Amino acid sequence: MRPDAAPAIRLEDYTPSPYRIDRVHLTVKLAPTATSVEAKLWVRAADHTTAGTPLVLDGDALTLTGLELNGLPLLQNAFMATPARLDIKDPPSGPFTLKITTQLDPENNTALMGLYRSSGTYCTQCEAEGFRRITYFLDRPDVLSVYTTRIEARASEAPVLLSNGNLLDHGKIAGTDRHFAVWHDPHPKPSYLFALVAGDLARVTDSFTTMSGRPVALNIYVEHGREGLCDWAMDSLKRSMRWDETVFGREYDLEVFNIVAVSDFNMGAMENKGLNIFNDKYILADPETATDQDYANIEAVIAHEYFHNWTGNRITCRDWFQLCLKEGLTVFRDQEFSGDMRSRAVKRISDVRLLKTHQFPEDAGPLAHPVRPRKYKEINNFYTATVYEKGAEIVRMLKTWLGDGAFRDGMNLYFRRHDGEATTIEAFIACFQEASGKDLTQFFRWYEQAGTPKVTVRSAYDRKAMTLTLHLNQTIPPLPGQPSAQPAVIPLRFALLDERGQEVIPARIDGAEVRGDVLTLDRARQTVTFHGIDRPVLPSLGRGFSAPVQLELDQNTQDFLFLASHDADPFNRWQSLQTLSTRELIRLTGHIRAGEPAEPDRDLVQAFGGVLGDDALEPAFRALALTLPTELDIARELGQSVDPDAIHAAQRLLLKAIATAHSTAFETAAASPVPGPYSPDAKAAGQRALVNKALGYLALTGGEETARLIARRFEQADNMTDRIAALTLLVHHDLADAPKALDAFRKRHAGSPLAMDKWFQVQATAPSGATLARLRALTRDPLYDASNPNRIRALVQSFAMGNPTQFARKDGAGFAFVADSALAIDGRNPQVASMLLTSFRSWRSLETARAKAAESILKRVFETGNLSRDSADIVERCLQ
Ligand code: ARG
Ligand code: ZN
Repeated sequence: MRPDAAPAIRLEDYTPSPYRIDRVHLTVKLAPTATSVEAKLWVRAADHTTAGTPLVLDGDALTLTGLELNGLPLLQNAFMATPARLDIKDPPSGPFTLKITTQLDPENNTALMGLYRSSGTYCTQCEAEGFRRITYFLDRPDVLSVYTTRIEARASEAPVLLSNGNLLDHGKIAGTDRHFAVWHDPHPKPSYLFALVAGDLARVTDSFTTMSGRPVALNIYVEHGREGLCDWAMDSLKRSMRWDETVFGREYDLEVFNIVAVSDFNMGAMENKGLNIFNDKYILADPETATDQDYANIEAVIAHEYFHNWTGNRITCRDWFQLCLKEGLTVFRDQEFSGDMRSRAVKRISDVRLLKTHQFPEDAGPLAHPVRPRKYKEINNFYTATVYEKGAEIVRMLKTWLGDGAFRDGMNLYFRRHDGEATTIEAFIACFQEASGKDLTQFFRWYEQAGTPKVTVRSAYDRKAMTLTLHLNQTIPPLPGQPSAQPAVIPLRFALLDERGQEVIPARIDGAEVRGDVLTLDRARQTVTFHGIDRPVLPSLGRGFSAPVQLELDQNTQDFLFLASHDADPFNRWQSLQTLSTRELIRLTGHIRAGEPAEPDRDLVQAFGGVLGDDALEPAFRALALTLPTELDIARELGQSVDPDAIHAAQRLLLKAIATAHSTAFETAAASPVPGPYSPDAKAAGQRALVNKALGYLALTGGEETARLIARRFEQADNMTDRIAALTLLVHHDLADAPKALDAFRKRHAGSPLAMDKWFQVQATAPSGATLARLRALTRDPLYDASNPNRIRALVQSFAMGNPTQFARKDGAGFAFVADSALAIDGRNPQVASMLLTSFRSWRSLETARAKAAESILKRVFETGNLSRDSADIVERCLQ
């Protein structure tokens, strides 16, 4: 079959399952290469099903070893079994049981879907369609069953046996070296939330008392010797549980909450009911091996998976098109949690940065898709920034537009009405429609249309009439499969500022719906008039990034500089500097490409000094404000004929000008000690961020003395944040001490694969012509493991996504390296391969020579025989 011949699954084709499975009893007898799974299913036809409808169960690479119906073996001609499906041709019309036995080889399951082994530990990943690699099943999220799971294993190989729910029984199996455990999960759940873990693991334990006084045992299971690295994760879990009670009124609903950390995991983590399984990089932390960012990520991912217990598990998705019903909502919830734990403004700015660098380009290229896609060939390719991050922005817009009260009422209605169901986005939105009394039909377009809306704003002040008029225009550029789009509902939080920065309150506003400080656009063209404006004002629009749109304001440099220093909304203060920097970097890029001399704008350079020296601003904010838009941001803004080298040069030029103009202030900032011993809290992290940002500026202009200072910082660092910051500067600026420091780091952290990932990543992101050769050599480093997803992310993915000049080398060698890495892993682990290939998504916006190189490599990949469905889907869409 040609890779593009796989059929697409379509939302409009959804039909309810003809059969239900009310109960499942699993007996899993574990052995490394020959595990047997006996699944007893209590099946009954749905009310709408006509008698004799065949029962078709999903499978994936399965071997059937036994089959009984109502306790009797099934005759050969009564069923049909292939590795990919099991058909029961003429099932009884009343309820019946099926007993299916399959045999699995966890040891050689390299796709990390279904039952596999990670460093000897048996573990599972079933979302989205991994349960069908364990047994034949109605492997779809709208089939909810109560699971009882008996696990058997050699006691010495796997002293710990875990599954979902509560532990019912455990003991030795007489006359053998094996033991067993029986777990029962009383909450009906879809198969994608099933989990099983068995291994020789250490346990860190704690407890939590819920708001109604029920005790919950909390356990985190890790490899022996890693127990000391779980404190932060455990603390984050307890804070998440309390927060969901306080803010959303959601209580935990089992006697135990187990988390397991494994070192081979395709994604971040998985919310299996009562048994979350995590990529260990989102659990393990100490100051020696984890950065401040790692601590923040752990807090967020722990919260995310815990919050899924209600948004995802208690209320799940009817089908995979509804993925953002659980993901967008749960990301929104974890972002709010982190905002409450940390600085809200800083968290918001970081989230928007992520959205702009990852989601905006996705939404502007060949992989663009609606937050709720209408079709897919491989669902694993839709765990995207669009579904997750843009999905979260839609929920946030609901809150902004409807107000806190109606939003809370809508959420409560959703929890009350849909608890225990597998439901849809329509059902979710209907709750807010009822709670607010507003018609949300047009708002729903956010789920159905791809692309980032662009809103242009032209403003006119009329002193005589005392009016400010805004002429607003919204468009979504054409995309593959979406030639045109309808206007969206766009809530813009706003304020009008006079020349002293004081807010001017209009007497009346015409032309748009207004509630408090939110005005909402809903037409392609709209004129909004503010009355009673007795002095010239500057509008501050889209405060807090109130809608995921690209705002094009007609304000000039002086206006933006004013907002950058006077806006009371910290987000827009940050955004104003970003907007100016983007304009400036685009201008400089143009000059550099044309071979013309270019001089960075003095006023802009000056403004950065203002931020640096403003002690009233929190250090974390200053560090973010001093960070220019990324090279990828500029590439996305340009949109066509992108020359990454020119962008890189422009970036350097502006950074250097800022560094030179404020060298003394940067020296002072870089020398300010962060008080006390290391603590991962947001305040201390912000102080470190500012110190290291200042050091980064010094590195651009400094001579030998600065180089020595950075080397000293590297040697003396007592935490990973400062150590890796210094190492990055040494390597990326090619300073004399770089090789020595790299060696020292490798020696120090050889025992910590997660720390070594940072070492690979620093080298993969070095903007140097020597990087690619260096990476090829690193793939042969004994500490590199070309089958571990975290290593591949650190070395190949961070090169592809975080090193624009070297990935897009003119000779195509960077593209070839990433494509060949993807092909090398594709047969073993399709999800990791397709993840690597998504980095080609913006190839069409590159200048001709580079675009040609990318295209020929994509075509070569596409024509490779036996390409996985995952990879074929990405490459096919990239080429469309
Ligand atoms: N539901 C998980 C989360 O918390 C992600 C699982 C993704 N798995 C996959 N095979 N695509 O976001
Ligand atoms: Zn999730």
